[in-house]
Amino acid sequence: MDRFDGIEFHDHHPEANDFLDVVLRGLTDEPKWIPPKFFYDKRGSELFERITRLSEYYATRTEIAILRDCAGEVAGLVGRDSLLIEYGSGSSNKVGILLDALQGDVTYVAIDISRQHLVESCERLAESYPRLEVIAVCADYSTPFPLPAPRRGMPQNKLVFFPGSTIGNFSPDQAVSFLANTARQIGTGGSLLIGVDLKKDEKLLHAAYNDSEQVTAAFNLNLLERINQEFAADFDLSAFSHRAFYNTERGRIEMHIVSLKPQVVSLNGASIRFVKSETIHTENSYKFSIGEFQHLAKQSGFEPVKVWTDPQDLFSLHYLTAR
Ligand code: TRP
Repeated sequence: MDRFDGIEFHDHHPEANDFLDVVLRGLTDEPKWIPPKFFYDKRGSELFERITRLSEYYATRTEIAILRDCAGEVAGLVGRDSLLIEYGSGSSNKVGILLDALQGDVTYVAIDISRQHLVESCERLAESYPRLEVIAVCADYSTPFPLPAPRRGMPQNKLVFFPGSTIGNFSPDQAVSFLANTARQIGTGGSLLIGVDLKKDEKLLHAAYNDSEQVTAAFNLNLLERINQEFAADFDLSAFSHRAFYNTERGRIEMHIVSLKPQVVSLNGASIRFVKSETIHTENSYKFSIGEFQHLAKQSGFEPVKVWTDPQDLFSLHYLTAR
């Protein structure tokens, strides 16, 4: 454990894991794939921040508006003196709304795969909230890891905050096992406040992942840039393009990287062949009805308590407790 200015820092070295192995496995598979957690190097995290501010990307501002409206009620449900855990805390922009509402002593545990981003945001937060205990954990939260203990002991009241509809980036099976792990981690009576993007007009969905400034395209293609840098690969970025579309049958946005021509890319001694129009599947973003999400949550050991939406039913915020 390290101490930075006012924050406690735990490093589980998520990137040391297996980036190269996974990329090689995904790129030699058919169809090709790369898991989305690798999007978030320094540049990827910056591009993602820009996505959240795009006019076409309704999700972030809608979720923030819902959060502002329900934060007082959430704080009442959680109770005084709490442990607040955020998965994928990123820039920790949204959590301030909860921190302003929560009563009594609060310990904030921020978990993110992007180290520099995590530490900087936590330092900023610790400065703005001098009474807050801040613990930063650099980890891949898709695999279980131990919860660090607050200095003053483990509070009864625990709230996991998982905004941004990141749950939709898991497959339904992965989502159930992730939520079940979360329920186990916080224990019976612990609660979860989770942002879930709703099914809606396909045109709105399409625009959200195909913005006119092409920030989403740059975010997607940055994955190849990252592979070039980290493994001396020779992806020619001008020979690939971004594709995102709504798969109605599966209820999800699919993001792919498309090879614009037949080509061979070398990666750490391996030759990766692409035929023209072949794609690398980089992400799914599942969209839910309220009932569909509640069903998934119940399967994972959670009981729905309350759900809030915006007036246009674009996005939902669910409060659930672990059974
Ligand atoms: N989870 C959000 C979503 O699926 C945010 C997000 C993750 C995203 N990866 C993205 C948004 C790629 C746009 C493009 O919408």
